[in-house]
Parts: sequence; structure tokens; C-alpha cells
Amino acid sequence: MRVRKAVIPVAGLGTRFLPATKAIPKEMIPIIDKPMIQYIVEECVGAGIEEIIFVTARGKDAILDHFDISFELETTLRAKGKADLLKICTEVSQMVTVTAVRQKEALGLGHAVLTAKSAVGNEPFAVLLGDDLVVSKVPCIRQLISVFEKREQPVIGVMQVPREETGKYGIIGGKEIAGSGGKLIQVKTMVEKPKPASAPSNLACPGRYVLTPKIFELLEKTKPGAGGEIQLTDALAKLPDNGGLLACIFDGRRYDTGDKLGYIEATIAFALQRPEFKKSVRELLTRYSQ
Ligand code: G1P
Repeated sequence: MRVRKAVIPVAGLGTRFLPATKAIPKEMIPIIDKPMIQYIVEECVGAGIEEIIFVTARGKDAILDHFDISFELETTLRAKGKADLLKICTEVSQMVTVTAVRQKEALGLGHAVLTAKSAVGNEPFAVLLGDDLVVSKVPCIRQLISVFEKREQPVIGVMQVPREETGKYGIIGGKEIAGSGGKLIQVKTMVEKPKPASAPSNLACPGRYVLTPKIFELLEKTKPGAGGEIQLTDALAKLPDNGGLLACIFDGRRYDTGDKLGYIEATIAFALQRPEFKKSVRELLTRYSQ
């Protein structure tokens, strides 16, 4: 069973980044010179995904335009002989096939995923959340797809978080799978944003999932949960009794770009990885920390 499609919910209002997000989607805010959403799509492409299904809403057209051909821009760059810039633009438009479904009401992440049901069809698929960027040798979603291909069970990416932060995430509880080197867990429970005292562990899911159409059946029966929203976590929590759910402690560094400080951190970290900026950014950081 190959994973060919990825669902990326992008319908959120992005209120945490107002006023920047008044007229542009938060997913289009750049880290250096690339919109955040492009890093997510590149993770998918690097993992062998062939089609992206954006779950979108009013005011989000810029995301689709970004991955489309920009005829005027490309014609102008070609006429001016700007081959390097033309290459940057065409690479983005040729990166991957993109489709979109509209989530007409903001009823929660679970509802957003359910909106993609007919676009996904009867095959396994990935889900990636745009606020989480993961830097790793092997793309994070590829690590999960590899587990799925071997074990044929839905799998979610998890990472250790400090106990006091469990209230920000979907948290799993379960049993380590023998022989997996501590990397795979057979999930028994999953709770959305539990208080530290009631959290089943400190293993949190930062928005990377490989699922099967079974989740749609479960989402259809899922009632509004935390925050009055239809939560993906609540449907995932039913998987242990409906064929199983695995969690994989992925390799990589995750940045929470939905948070302002996380966004600043990601900008610095990504700049330090770019050969053309590395030295000057280091110098700037030293100067500003004195
Ligand atoms: C969502 C999910 C949560 C997950 C988190 C990762 O929450 O509901 O389970 O851990 O994304 O970023 P949100 O941050 O949208 O409130």
C-alpha cells in the first residue's frame, strides 16, 4: 500500500500572527525567503508524496497560487534573462500536483481531515500540520511512511515534551514494541491537550500522521471535544480498538512556527543552515547578545 497523497489543513484564521495574517494566509509568512507552507510541501515531496490536498477556506487562495504557474512573472523573468530566478519559480510550480477542498465552517482539525474524504478516496494518506516544521535527515513524514509500509497500521509521529507542556498537544499512552529500539509504541490511549497530572505520558504528536480511510468512519461518529471542536485526536483514540495505532518517535528537530518565539527560533536556525548567511548571522547574534 503506497502513500501517494498528503492532506494539509490550511483553513485556520492564523489569529496568533495578527496583524500579519489580516490579508495573507499565515502559511504564506516566510522563513527567510520561502513561505512556511513550502517547507511542509517539500517534506512531502522528499517523502515521495505525489499529490497534496489542501483543506482550505476563504482568503487562502495565495497558497494555491504559490504552487501554480505564474505566467506573467515567468514570462518577464524569461524576457529579462533572469535564469536563476526563473528556475526558483518554475521549481515551485512543478513541485507536485495540488488540489484543494473547502472547509466551509471552522469545526476543528478532525472536521478538516474529514472534508478531504472524497479527495483521498480509498487509500492510505499522510496528514501534516503547517505550524510544525521538522528538520531531519530523512523527512519526518517519510520516517512514518516507512513504518506504515512495514507494519500496515496507521502511525503518528511523537516526540518527548516537558510534562508542563502536555496541554498544548495530543498526547499518547501505550506500550513500547519489543525490538524497535524504543522507537515504536503500540498506542493504547490518546488524549487531546491533557493537564500534566492526567497526561498518559509526555509523548506528544506535533502534527505528522499516516492514516487509512478507517479514520473517516471514526471521524463521522466523533462529537465535538476539547474547545468544542471535532478533534482528530478523539477519532485517533478509537483506532486502538479498530485495527490499531502506532506511534513513532521520529528523528529530527521540530520548530513550533505557530508560536512567535518558535518562529523566531526557526528563522535563526534555518538561516544558520544556509551557507550564504551562516557567518553573518553568527556575527549578528554575537553582536546582539552583548
Ligand atoms: C493540533 C492537534 C494536536 C497536535 C497539535 C500539534 O492542535 O489537535 O493534537 O498535538 O496540533 O501542533 P492545535 O495546535 O491546532 O491546537
